[in-house]
Amino acid sequence: MKSAARRLGREQAKEVLVGLDSALGSSRGKAAREAIVKFLNASVPTYSWVGMYAVDGGDLVLEAWAGPAATEHTRIPIGKGVCGFAAKAGRTEIVSDVGKDPRYLQCFLSTRAEIVVPVLNQGQVVGEIDIDSDQLDAFSSVDKEFLEAVAKRVSNLW
Ligand code: SME
Repeated sequence: MKSAARRLGREQAKEVLVGLDSALGSSRGKAAREAIVKFLNASVPTYSWVGMYAVDGGDLVLEAWAGPAATEHTRIPIGKGVCGFAAKAGRTEIVSDVGKDPRYLQCFLSTRAEIVVPVLNQGQVVGEIDIDSDQLDAFSSVDKEFLEAVAKRVSNLW
């Protein structure tokens, strides 16, 4: 399948995770989250737009992003959209074709697939990583495991 050929591979994911640690350096908090979105967007071709939202009361607030354009969805109620669903459920959501998911809130016309990975701190969702891809069916269990490992690192630096 042509679309699967460009997905993140296991070996590449390991390399990116090592690179991420050096990109982070000693940064913490929001600076760390900004470094992570920039690094992920630059390192993985299928990660067309990478954002990080933080939980603020009953909402998710966009804190850091990297990609070709800003999104109008800078505040999303928990429970709304794919982002709000993942935050409420506390688990990773993969949408292979955003055109077929009624929960999807559109940010960019070019987006075809999305993955949202919650960041957990002591069992509570404190934020999430949201990635849009211009490639249909861009995300697999490799991205899920990789981004859950990234979310753990983020949680330690929250
Ligand atoms: N598509 C998301 C909204 C955020 S944008 O992708 C940046 C959603 O359905 O929740």
